[in-house]
Amino acid sequence: MGRFVERLEGSVRLYVFEELYIVPGRAPVDPDRVSVETRFSRNIRLSIPVASAPMDMVTGVEMAVALALHGGIGVLHRNCSREEQVEMARRVKEHPAVPLTRLHLSPDTPACRALGELRAAGVRDAPVVDASGRVLGYASLAGLRRCCREGLRVASCTTRGRVYSLGEAVEALRGLEAGGRDTAAIVSREGGLYLGTVVFDAVFQDYSPSLDEEGRLRVAAAISPFDAERAKMLDRFVDALVSDVAHFHNDNVLRAAARLVKEVSADFVAGNIGTAEAARDVVSAVERVDGLRVGIGGGSICVTAQVAGAFAPTPWAVAQVRDALEELGAADETPVIADGGIRTPADAVKSLALGASCVMLGYVLAGTDEASAPLIRVGDRAYKPYRGMASRGALERRFAADRYSRVVKRVPEGLEGLVEYRGPVSRVLAEFIEGVKAGMGYAGASSIRELWEKAVLGRAPPRGERGLILGI
Ligand code: XMP
Repeated sequence: MGRFVERLEGSVRLYVFEELYIVPGRAPVDPDRVSVETRFSRNIRLSIPVASAPMDMVTGVEMAVALALHGGIGVLHRNCSREEQVEMARRVKEHPAVPLTRLHLSPDTPACRALGELRAAGVRDAPVVDASGRVLGYASLAGLRRCCREGLRVASCTTRGRVYSLGEAVEALRGLEAGGRDTAAIVSREGGLYLGTVVFDAVFQDYSPSLDEEGRLRVAAAISPFDAERAKMLDRFVDALVSDVAHFHNDNVLRAAARLVKEVSADFVAGNIGTAEAARDVVSAVERVDGLRVGIGGGSICVTAQVAGAFAPTPWAVAQVRDALEELGAADETPVIADGGIRTPADAVKSLALGASCVMLGYVLAGTDEASAPLIRVGDRAYKPYRGMASRGALERRFAADRYSRVVKRVPEGLEGLVEYRGPVSRVLAEFIEGVKAGMGYAGASSIRELWEKAVLGRAPPRGERGLILGI
Protein backbone atom coordinates (compact mmCIF):
# COMPACT_ATOMS: atom_id res chain seq x y z
CA MET A 1 0.00 0.00 0.00
CA GLY A 2 1.34 3.47 -0.92
CA ARG A 3 1.67 6.15 1.70
CA PHE A 4 -1.27 8.17 0.46
CA VAL A 5 -3.67 5.24 0.50
CA GLU A 6 -2.27 4.47 3.91
CA ARG A 7 -3.03 8.04 4.98
CA LEU A 8 -6.59 7.62 3.75
CA GLU A 9 -7.14 4.23 5.32
CA GLY A 10 -5.42 5.26 8.52
CA SER A 11 -7.57 8.36 8.85
CA VAL A 12 -8.53 9.27 12.39
CA ARG A 13 -12.09 8.55 13.57
CA LEU A 14 -13.61 11.85 14.74
CA TYR A 15 -16.59 11.81 17.09
CA VAL A 16 -19.43 14.35 17.08
CA PHE A 17 -22.06 15.04 19.74
CA GLU A 18 -24.98 13.68 17.72
CA GLU A 19 -23.69 10.08 17.71
CA LEU A 20 -22.74 9.93 21.40
CA TYR A 21 -25.01 9.09 24.33
CA ILE A 22 -24.70 8.68 28.08
CA VAL A 23 -25.33 5.06 29.05
CA PRO A 24 -27.57 5.15 32.15
CA GLY A 25 -25.80 3.98 35.29
CA ARG A 26 -26.68 3.34 38.95
CA ALA A 27 -27.44 6.70 40.57
CA PRO A 28 -26.37 7.33 44.18
CA VAL A 29 -28.50 10.50 44.46
CA ASP A 30 -31.46 12.19 42.79
CA PRO A 31 -30.68 14.83 40.13
CA ASP A 32 -31.70 17.68 42.48
CA ARG A 33 -28.82 16.67 44.81
CA VAL A 34 -26.22 16.64 42.01
CA SER A 35 -23.48 19.27 42.41
CA VAL A 36 -22.30 21.06 39.27
CA GLU A 37 -19.52 23.03 40.99
CA THR A 38 -16.40 23.24 38.92
CA ARG A 39 -13.55 25.44 37.70
CA PHE A 40 -13.13 27.69 34.68
CA SER A 41 -9.39 28.09 35.12
CA ARG A 42 -6.75 27.39 37.74
CA ASN A 43 -7.96 30.07 40.19
CA ILE A 44 -11.58 30.55 39.16
CA ARG A 45 -14.22 28.38 40.79
CA LEU A 46 -17.74 28.33 39.37
CA SER A 47 -20.97 27.06 40.84
CA ILE A 48 -22.30 26.21 37.36
CA PRO A 49 -20.12 24.84 34.53
CA VAL A 50 -20.93 27.60 32.04
CA ALA A 51 -18.94 30.39 30.37
CA SER A 52 -20.31 32.71 27.69
CA ALA A 53 -18.46 32.91 24.39
CA PRO A 54 -16.49 36.09 23.60
CA MET A 55 -18.62 37.09 20.62
CA ASP A 56 -19.87 40.58 19.87
CA MET A 57 -23.51 39.48 19.68
CA VAL A 58 -23.25 37.57 22.96
CA THR A 59 -20.95 38.85 25.70
CA GLY A 60 -20.94 42.49 26.69
CA VAL A 61 -21.45 43.91 30.19
CA GLU A 62 -25.00 42.62 30.66
CA MET A 63 -24.18 39.02 29.73
CA ALA A 64 -21.00 38.99 31.83
CA VAL A 65 -22.91 40.34 34.84
CA ALA A 66 -25.72 37.80 34.38
CA LEU A 67 -23.31 34.86 34.05
CA ALA A 68 -21.32 35.83 37.14
CA LEU A 69 -24.50 36.42 39.16
CA HIS A 70 -25.65 32.90 38.34
CA GLY A 71 -22.34 31.28 39.22
CA GLY A 72 -20.76 31.08 35.76
CA ILE A 73 -18.43 33.52 34.00
CA GLY A 74 -18.69 35.79 30.96
CA VAL A 75 -15.79 36.28 28.54
CA LEU A 76 -16.00 39.81 27.13
CA HIS A 77 -15.64 40.00 23.36
CA ARG A 78 -12.76 41.91 21.77
CA ASN A 79 -14.51 43.29 18.69
CA CYS A 80 -13.95 46.82 19.96
CA SER A 81 -11.13 49.15 20.92
CA ARG A 82 -8.90 48.29 23.87
CA GLU A 83 -10.41 51.16 25.84
CA GLU A 84 -13.96 49.96 25.22
CA GLN A 85 -13.12 46.44 26.37
CA VAL A 86 -11.45 47.76 29.54
CA GLU A 87 -14.52 49.91 30.18
CA MET A 88 -16.77 46.82 29.89
CA ALA A 89 -14.62 44.95 32.41
CA ARG A 90 -14.65 47.92 34.78
CA ARG A 91 -18.45 48.09 34.64
CA VAL A 92 -18.80 44.40 35.47
CA LYS A 93 -16.51 44.84 38.46
CA GLU A 94 -18.56 47.82 39.65
CA HIS A 95 -21.85 45.94 39.45
CA PRO A 96 -23.28 44.80 42.77
CA ALA A 97 -23.03 41.09 43.40
CA VAL A 98 -26.80 40.65 43.21
CA PRO A 99 -29.28 41.26 40.34
CA LEU A 100 -30.61 44.85 40.29
CA THR A 101 -33.90 45.76 38.61
CA ARG A 102 -35.69 49.10 38.15
CA LEU A 103 -38.85 47.85 39.88
CA HIS A 104 -40.31 50.71 41.97
CA LEU A 105 -43.54 52.71 42.41
CA SER A 106 -44.20 56.42 42.17
CA PRO A 107 -45.95 58.04 45.18
CA ASP A 108 -48.43 59.75 42.82
CA THR A 109 -49.67 56.55 41.17
CA PRO A 110 -53.25 55.55 42.13
CA ALA A 111 -53.04 52.59 44.54
CA CYS A 112 -55.33 50.46 42.34
CA ARG A 113 -52.92 50.81 39.38
CA ALA A 114 -49.90 50.10 41.61
CA LEU A 115 -51.61 46.90 42.78
CA GLY A 116 -51.69 45.76 39.15
CA GLU A 117 -48.00 46.65 38.72
CA LEU A 118 -46.97 44.56 41.74
CA ARG A 119 -49.12 41.61 40.67
CA ALA A 120 -47.62 41.73 37.15
CA ALA A 121 -44.11 41.74 38.66
CA GLY A 122 -45.05 38.83 40.95
CA VAL A 123 -43.85 40.54 44.14
CA ARG A 124 -45.54 41.45 47.43
CA ASP A 125 -43.96 44.90 47.82
CA ALA A 126 -41.82 47.53 46.08
CA PRO A 127 -39.82 50.65 46.98
CA VAL A 128 -41.58 53.97 46.51
CA VAL A 129 -39.35 56.52 44.78
CA ASP A 130 -40.21 60.19 44.12
CA ALA A 131 -39.34 62.14 40.98
CA SER A 132 -36.06 63.40 42.46
CA GLY A 133 -34.86 59.83 43.15
CA ARG A 134 -35.47 59.83 46.92
CA VAL A 135 -36.67 56.54 48.36
CA LEU A 136 -39.75 57.31 50.50
CA GLY A 137 -40.24 53.76 51.80
CA TYR A 138 -42.09 50.67 50.63
CA ALA A 139 -45.65 49.86 49.60
CA SER A 140 -47.04 46.35 50.14
CA LEU A 141 -49.92 44.50 48.50
CA ALA A 142 -51.92 44.65 51.76
CA GLY A 143 -51.41 48.42 52.14
CA LEU A 144 -52.19 49.06 48.47
CA ARG A 145 -55.42 47.03 48.69
CA ARG A 146 -56.59 49.22 51.54
CA CYS A 147 -55.67 52.47 49.73
CA CYS A 148 -57.27 51.19 46.53
CA ARG A 149 -60.59 50.65 48.34
CA GLU A 150 -60.39 54.22 49.67
CA GLY A 151 -59.41 55.70 46.27
CA LEU A 152 -55.98 56.88 47.53
CA ARG A 153 -52.56 57.07 45.92
CA VAL A 154 -49.37 55.08 46.69
CA ALA A 155 -48.01 57.85 48.97
CA SER A 156 -50.81 57.15 51.47
CA CYS A 157 -49.79 53.56 52.03
CA THR A 158 -46.00 53.97 51.99
CA THR A 159 -44.30 52.77 55.15
CA ARG A 160 -40.70 53.26 56.22
CA GLY A 161 -38.14 50.54 55.60
CA ARG A 162 -34.40 50.07 55.39
CA VAL A 163 -32.53 51.11 52.25
CA TYR A 164 -29.08 49.73 51.37
CA SER A 165 -25.92 51.03 49.72
CA LEU A 166 -24.35 49.22 46.75
CA GLY A 167 -21.81 47.61 49.03
CA GLU A 168 -24.64 46.20 51.15
CA ALA A 169 -26.48 44.60 48.20
CA VAL A 170 -25.61 41.03 49.18
CA GLU A 171 -26.73 41.72 52.74
CA ALA A 172 -29.98 43.11 51.31
CA LEU A 173 -30.61 39.93 49.34
CA ARG A 174 -29.87 37.70 52.32
CA GLY A 175 -32.25 39.87 54.38
CA LEU A 176 -35.01 39.17 51.86
CA GLU A 177 -34.47 35.46 52.13
CA ALA A 178 -34.82 35.66 55.90
CA GLY A 179 -37.56 38.29 56.26
CA GLY A 180 -41.05 38.57 54.89
CA ARG A 181 -40.19 41.18 52.24
CA ASP A 182 -39.64 40.68 48.48
CA THR A 183 -37.71 43.85 47.59
CA ALA A 184 -34.98 46.13 48.91
CA ALA A 185 -33.98 49.53 47.53
CA ILE A 186 -30.34 50.25 46.76
CA VAL A 187 -29.23 53.88 47.00
CA SER A 188 -26.05 55.77 46.12
CA ARG A 189 -23.60 56.51 48.89
CA GLU A 190 -23.50 60.19 47.98
CA GLY A 191 -26.94 61.77 48.16
CA GLY A 192 -28.76 58.52 48.99
CA LEU A 193 -30.49 58.48 45.59
CA TYR A 194 -32.26 55.42 44.16
CA LEU A 195 -30.03 53.12 42.06
CA GLY A 196 -32.20 50.01 41.72
CA THR A 197 -34.11 47.27 43.48
CA VAL A 198 -32.97 43.89 44.70
CA VAL A 199 -35.77 41.38 44.16
CA PHE A 200 -36.05 38.00 45.83
CA ASP A 201 -35.32 35.48 43.07
CA ALA A 202 -35.80 31.80 43.78
CA VAL A 203 -33.61 30.76 40.81
CA PHE A 204 -30.80 32.99 41.98
CA GLN A 205 -30.90 31.51 45.48
CA ASP A 206 -29.78 28.12 44.16
CA TYR A 207 -26.32 29.22 43.03
CA SER A 208 -23.71 31.41 44.59
CA PRO A 209 -22.39 34.17 42.36
CA SER A 210 -18.83 34.00 41.05
CA LEU A 211 -16.94 36.50 43.17
CA ASP A 212 -13.30 37.57 43.41
CA GLU A 213 -11.39 37.94 46.69
CA GLU A 214 -12.84 41.44 47.12
CA GLY A 215 -16.43 40.28 46.67
CA ARG A 216 -16.77 41.71 43.15
CA LEU A 217 -18.23 39.77 40.22
CA ARG A 218 -15.73 37.72 38.27
CA VAL A 219 -15.17 38.45 34.60
CA ALA A 220 -12.85 37.26 31.83
CA ALA A 221 -11.86 38.92 28.57
CA ALA A 222 -10.86 37.68 25.13
CA ILE A 223 -7.46 38.73 23.82
CA SER A 224 -5.09 37.95 21.01
CA PRO A 225 -1.65 36.78 22.18
CA PHE A 226 -0.24 39.28 19.66
CA ASP A 227 -1.87 42.23 21.40
CA ALA A 228 0.13 42.42 24.64
CA GLU A 229 -0.90 46.03 25.07
CA ARG A 230 -4.60 45.11 25.29
CA ALA A 231 -3.87 42.19 27.62
CA LYS A 232 -1.83 44.39 29.96
CA MET A 233 -4.54 47.07 30.02
CA LEU A 234 -7.19 44.45 30.89
CA ASP A 235 -5.02 42.59 33.39
CA ARG A 236 -5.94 44.91 36.30
CA PHE A 237 -9.67 44.51 35.73
CA VAL A 238 -10.28 40.88 34.80
CA ASP A 239 -9.85 37.51 36.48
CA ALA A 240 -8.83 35.69 33.32
CA LEU A 241 -7.42 36.55 29.91
CA VAL A 242 -8.77 34.13 27.33
CA SER A 243 -6.94 33.60 24.09
CA ASP A 244 -9.28 34.05 21.15
CA VAL A 245 -7.37 32.42 18.32
CA ALA A 246 -8.89 29.88 15.93
CA HIS A 247 -5.69 27.77 15.74
CA PHE A 248 -3.49 28.29 18.80
CA HIS A 249 -1.24 25.39 17.80
CA ASN A 250 0.85 27.66 15.58
CA ASP A 251 4.50 28.49 16.21
CA ASN A 252 4.03 32.26 16.03
CA VAL A 253 1.05 32.14 18.37
CA LEU A 254 2.89 29.91 20.86
CA ARG A 255 5.88 32.27 20.91
CA ALA A 256 3.66 35.33 21.39
CA ALA A 257 1.70 33.60 24.21
CA ALA A 258 4.92 32.51 25.92
CA ARG A 259 6.03 36.16 26.03
CA LEU A 260 2.61 37.42 27.06
CA VAL A 261 2.09 35.24 30.16
CA LYS A 262 5.25 36.70 31.68
CA GLU A 263 3.70 40.18 31.55
CA VAL A 264 0.25 39.52 33.06
CA SER A 265 -1.02 38.16 36.35
CA ALA A 266 -4.65 37.17 35.57
CA ASP A 267 -5.27 33.50 34.78
CA PHE A 268 -4.28 32.75 31.19
CA VAL A 269 -6.59 30.47 29.19
CA ALA A 270 -5.01 29.27 25.94
CA GLY A 271 -6.95 28.19 22.85
CA ASN A 272 -8.44 27.10 20.74
CA ILE A 273 -6.75 23.78 20.33
CA GLY A 274 -8.12 20.46 19.10
CA THR A 275 -5.60 17.65 19.63
CA ALA A 276 -3.48 15.89 22.25
CA GLU A 277 -0.35 16.96 20.40
CA ALA A 278 -1.45 20.60 20.59
CA ALA A 279 -2.05 20.26 24.36
CA ARG A 280 1.47 18.86 24.85
CA ASP A 281 3.05 21.59 22.73
CA VAL A 282 1.13 24.38 24.46
CA VAL A 283 2.04 23.17 27.93
CA SER A 284 5.70 22.86 27.01
CA ALA A 285 5.92 26.18 25.11
CA VAL A 286 3.95 28.43 27.47
CA GLU A 287 5.20 28.63 31.04
CA ARG A 288 1.79 29.22 32.63
CA VAL A 289 -1.39 27.76 31.12
CA ASP A 290 -4.30 28.13 33.56
CA GLY A 291 -6.94 26.61 31.30
CA LEU A 292 -7.48 25.39 27.75
CA ARG A 293 -10.27 26.31 25.35
CA VAL A 294 -10.87 23.22 23.27
CA GLY A 295 -12.66 22.49 19.98
CA ILE A 296 -12.06 23.70 16.41
CA GLY A 297 -14.68 24.20 13.72
CA GLY A 298 -17.59 22.78 15.72
CA GLY A 299 -19.38 26.05 16.52
CA SER A 300 -22.94 26.60 15.31
CA ILE A 301 -21.80 29.54 13.16
CA CYS A 302 -18.52 27.93 12.02
CA VAL A 303 -17.80 27.10 8.42
CA THR A 304 -14.14 26.24 9.03
CA ALA A 305 -14.83 22.58 8.14
CA GLN A 306 -16.52 23.62 4.90
CA VAL A 307 -14.07 26.39 3.94
CA ALA A 308 -10.76 24.97 5.13
CA GLY A 309 -11.61 21.29 5.57
CA ALA A 310 -10.26 21.41 9.14
CA PHE A 311 -12.30 20.01 12.04
CA ALA A 312 -11.60 18.91 15.60
CA PRO A 313 -15.14 18.30 16.88
CA THR A 314 -15.58 19.34 20.50
CA PRO A 315 -16.24 15.92 22.16
CA TRP A 316 -13.31 14.30 20.37
CA ALA A 317 -10.99 17.24 21.01
CA VAL A 318 -11.92 17.45 24.70
CA ALA A 319 -11.10 13.76 25.28
CA GLN A 320 -7.81 14.11 23.39
CA VAL A 321 -6.71 17.16 25.35
CA ARG A 322 -7.82 15.88 28.73
CA ASP A 323 -5.90 12.61 28.27
CA ALA A 324 -2.78 14.52 27.23
CA LEU A 325 -3.06 16.74 30.31
CA GLU A 326 -3.44 13.72 32.58
CA GLU A 327 -0.34 12.12 31.04
CA LEU A 328 1.55 15.36 31.67
CA GLY A 329 0.25 15.51 35.25
CA ALA A 330 -1.22 18.94 34.43
CA ALA A 331 -4.95 18.14 34.49
CA ASP A 332 -5.52 19.65 37.95
CA GLU A 333 -4.15 23.09 37.22
CA THR A 334 -5.43 23.24 33.63
CA PRO A 335 -9.23 22.90 33.38
CA VAL A 336 -10.59 22.09 29.92
CA ILE A 337 -13.30 24.34 28.51
CA ALA A 338 -15.39 22.58 25.85
CA ASP A 339 -16.12 25.15 23.15
CA GLY A 340 -18.27 24.96 20.02
CA GLY A 341 -21.46 23.20 19.00
CA ILE A 342 -22.97 22.85 22.47
CA ARG A 343 -26.65 23.38 21.72
CA THR A 344 -28.28 21.38 24.50
CA PRO A 345 -27.61 20.33 28.11
CA ALA A 346 -27.04 16.84 26.68
CA ASP A 347 -24.05 18.14 24.69
CA ALA A 348 -22.74 19.72 27.89
CA VAL A 349 -23.05 16.46 29.86
CA LYS A 350 -21.23 14.58 27.08
CA SER A 351 -18.45 17.21 27.12
CA LEU A 352 -18.11 16.98 30.90
CA ALA A 353 -18.14 13.17 30.72
CA LEU A 354 -15.21 13.37 28.28
CA GLY A 355 -13.09 15.41 30.67
CA ALA A 356 -14.24 19.01 30.33
CA SER A 357 -14.60 21.17 33.46
CA CYS A 358 -17.07 23.56 31.90
CA VAL A 359 -18.65 24.50 28.59
CA MET A 360 -18.55 27.71 26.58
CA LEU A 361 -21.85 28.78 25.04
CA GLY A 362 -22.50 31.08 22.09
CA TYR A 363 -25.66 29.87 20.35
CA VAL A 364 -27.51 28.90 23.56
CA LEU A 365 -27.12 32.41 25.02
CA ALA A 366 -27.39 34.44 21.79
CA GLY A 367 -31.20 34.66 21.94
CA THR A 368 -31.42 35.97 25.52
CA ASP A 369 -32.28 39.45 26.78
CA GLU A 370 -28.71 39.95 28.01
CA ALA A 371 -27.03 39.05 24.70
CA SER A 372 -25.46 42.20 23.28
CA ALA A 373 -27.55 42.23 20.09
CA PRO A 374 -30.77 44.11 19.36
CA LEU A 375 -34.16 42.38 19.41
CA ILE A 376 -35.69 42.07 15.94
CA ARG A 377 -39.42 41.45 15.46
CA VAL A 378 -40.66 39.69 12.33
CA GLY A 379 -44.44 39.46 12.43
CA ASP A 380 -45.34 38.02 15.83
CA ARG A 381 -41.97 36.35 16.32
CA ALA A 382 -38.82 37.83 17.85
CA TYR A 383 -35.19 37.12 17.00
CA LYS A 384 -31.69 38.28 17.82
CA PRO A 385 -28.80 38.50 15.35
CA TYR A 386 -25.93 36.07 15.91
CA ARG A 387 -22.69 35.85 13.95
CA GLY A 388 -19.33 34.12 13.98
CA MET A 389 -16.39 36.28 14.96
CA ALA A 390 -14.72 35.28 11.70
CA SER A 391 -17.79 36.19 9.63
CA ARG A 392 -17.46 39.00 7.12
CA GLY A 393 -19.51 41.44 9.24
CA ALA A 394 -17.64 40.74 12.47
CA LEU A 395 -14.23 41.00 10.78
CA GLU A 396 -15.12 44.33 9.19
CA ARG A 397 -16.18 45.66 12.57
CA ARG A 398 -12.96 44.42 14.18
CA PHE A 399 -10.69 46.16 11.68
CA ALA A 400 -12.73 49.35 12.00
CA ALA A 401 -12.59 49.27 15.83
CA ASP A 402 -9.04 48.09 16.30
CA ARG A 403 -6.36 49.09 13.87
CA TYR A 404 -3.90 46.80 15.66
CA SER A 405 -5.83 43.66 14.79
CA ARG A 406 -3.70 41.28 12.80
CA VAL A 407 -4.85 39.93 9.45
CA VAL A 408 -3.53 36.50 8.61
CA LYS A 409 -6.57 35.04 6.82
CA ARG A 410 -8.59 36.70 4.12
CA VAL A 411 -11.50 34.30 3.86
CA PRO A 412 -14.45 34.44 6.28
CA GLU A 413 -14.89 31.31 8.41
CA GLY A 414 -18.16 32.23 10.10
CA LEU A 415 -21.85 32.70 9.36
CA GLU A 416 -24.24 35.54 10.16
CA GLY A 417 -27.88 34.88 10.97
CA LEU A 418 -30.72 35.13 13.46
CA VAL A 419 -31.61 33.01 16.47
CA GLU A 420 -34.99 32.84 18.17
CA TYR A 421 -35.51 35.14 21.14
CA ARG A 422 -35.43 33.09 24.37
CA GLY A 423 -36.15 35.53 27.22
CA PRO A 424 -33.94 36.26 30.23
CA VAL A 425 -30.65 34.46 30.72
CA SER A 426 -31.73 33.35 34.20
CA ARG A 427 -34.49 31.20 32.71
CA VAL A 428 -32.30 29.75 29.95
CA LEU A 429 -29.52 28.93 32.41
CA ALA A 430 -31.89 27.42 34.97
CA GLU A 431 -33.32 25.05 32.33
CA PHE A 432 -29.88 24.26 30.99
CA ILE A 433 -28.49 23.37 34.41
CA GLU A 434 -31.52 21.23 35.23
CA GLY A 435 -30.79 19.28 32.03
CA VAL A 436 -27.11 18.90 32.94
CA LYS A 437 -28.04 17.62 36.39
CA ALA A 438 -30.53 15.16 34.90
CA GLY A 439 -27.84 13.84 32.53
CA MET A 440 -25.34 13.51 35.37
CA GLY A 441 -28.00 11.69 37.38
CA TYR A 442 -28.47 9.18 34.53
CA ALA A 443 -24.71 8.70 34.38
CA GLY A 444 -24.78 7.87 38.10
CA ALA A 445 -22.64 10.85 39.09
CA SER A 446 -23.28 13.25 41.96
CA SER A 447 -20.47 15.63 40.95
CA ILE A 448 -18.43 16.48 37.87
CA ARG A 449 -15.43 14.72 39.36
CA GLU A 450 -17.54 11.58 39.76
CA LEU A 451 -18.78 11.95 36.19
CA TRP A 452 -15.15 11.88 35.00
CA GLU A 453 -14.68 8.59 36.85
CA LYS A 454 -17.94 6.84 36.15
CA ALA A 455 -19.50 7.95 32.85
CA VAL A 456 -20.04 5.28 30.21
CA LEU A 457 -20.59 6.54 26.67
CA GLY A 458 -22.47 4.78 23.94
CA ARG A 459 -22.34 5.32 20.21
CA ALA A 460 -25.41 5.12 17.98
CA PRO A 461 -26.76 6.91 14.92
CA PRO A 462 -28.20 10.35 15.70
CA ARG A 463 -31.73 10.15 17.12
CA GLY A 464 -32.72 13.04 14.84
CA GLU A 465 -36.37 13.95 14.82
CA ARG A 466 -37.68 10.37 14.82
CA GLY A 467 -40.53 9.81 17.19
CA LEU A 468 -41.57 13.45 17.23
CA ILE A 469 -45.34 13.77 17.46
CA LEU A 470 -46.42 16.10 14.70
CA GLY A 471 -49.21 18.54 15.39
CA ILE A 472 -52.44 17.96 13.49
P1 XMP B 1 -21.61 27.89 19.54
O1 XMP B 1 -21.85 26.55 18.87
O2 XMP B 1 -21.83 27.87 21.00
O3 XMP B 1 -20.03 28.15 19.31
O4 XMP B 1 -22.36 28.98 18.86
C1 XMP B 1 -19.37 29.25 19.84
C2 XMP B 1 -17.90 29.14 19.53
O5 XMP B 1 -17.66 29.16 18.13
C3 XMP B 1 -16.35 29.66 17.86
N1 XMP B 1 -16.48 30.72 16.86
C4 XMP B 1 -16.18 30.56 15.56
N2 XMP B 1 -15.66 29.51 14.90
N3 XMP B 1 -15.78 30.76 12.88
C5 XMP B 1 -15.45 29.63 13.54
O6 XMP B 1 -14.95 28.67 12.92
C6 XMP B 1 -16.30 31.86 13.49
O7 XMP B 1 -16.61 32.87 12.86
C7 XMP B 1 -16.50 31.74 14.90
N4 XMP B 1 -16.96 32.61 15.82
C8 XMP B 1 -16.94 31.96 17.02
C9 XMP B 1 -15.81 30.17 19.18
O8 XMP B 1 -14.90 29.21 19.67
C10 XMP B 1 -17.05 30.29 20.05
O9 XMP B 1 -16.79 30.20 21.42
